[in-house]
Amino acid sequence: MVIAQTQTAADLAQTDGSASVPSHVAIIMDGNGRWAKARGLPRVAGHRAGVQAVRRTIEAAIKHHVGWLTLYAFSSENWRRPAAEVSDLTGLLRRFIKSELAELDANGVRLMVIGDRGRFDADLQAELARAEATTRNNTNLTLIVALSYGARAEIVTAVQAALAEITAGRLDIASLDEASFGRLLSTGDIPDPDVILRTSGEQRLSNFLLWQSAYAELVFTDVLWPDFTEEHFAAALAEYARRERRFGARPG
Ligand code: IPE
Ligand code: IPE
Ligand code: MG
Repeated sequence: MVIAQTQTAADLAQTDGSASVPSHVAIIMDGNGRWAKARGLPRVAGHRAGVQAVRRTIEAAIKHHVGWLTLYAFSSENWRRPAAEVSDLTGLLRRFIKSELAELDANGVRLMVIGDRGRFDADLQAELARAEATTRNNTNLTLIVALSYGARAEIVTAVQAALAEITAGRLDIASLDEASFGRLLSTGDIPDPDVILRTSGEQRLSNFLLWQSAYAELVFTDVLWPDFTEEHFAAALAEYARRERRFGARPG
């Protein structure tokens, strides 16, 4: 469904008195290529414009008091794209970390990376580790960037970790439950997303947070990622505030 853009989450919280701001918003940032194509530009121009939308979204998350923001920036399947595009994307990521780290830190943003970072060049891996270390004690917003991330691979890795613990005699099969298994995922202590938002009109998860999204509210908008603004972010929060979450219990 397409989100409305009239009421903000704050408006709704005021009218019904509930705490309706999601704690964790996860975004599948899609549509850079189509944005560029519509302008007769190369795809990289769309990715560049997408970086500006990332900046706006981080600011919006802070402003709206969302504690956790996850951005799907590069999927494990995105390695299948032409080498030149992969290199454009990793180049933009490298530049983003270098140019934004000081400001993210100054704004109290804690950066975390999930995904198979071992597939990136060693220097980029070092930059990511440095950014995480620099910002680790910040508390305004936790920004989780999903890079070379695939949910199925993440689940298989967690199963391997559980089996290794069991084989070593450190874990009882019977004591493996949803909570302890969840802690073996790359999202460990990160709360599950309350909202998964996808731009560009596509309505699929594309291997994003499959375990963690069990009870997420799904919000889809037609806006292409490079056009995404604070207003669209606020509209998604408003859409979330209108939803009734039940978690399987009977309606209230
Ligand atoms: C999202 O935009 C960015 C990444 C997936 C890295 P796309 O590059 O997927 O843009 P479209 O879907 O082709 O328009
Ligand atoms: C999902 O977008 C991955 C990211 C946004 C990083 P894609 O554009 O790669 O997804 P599909 O191929 O359309 O499912
Ligand atoms: Mg896409």
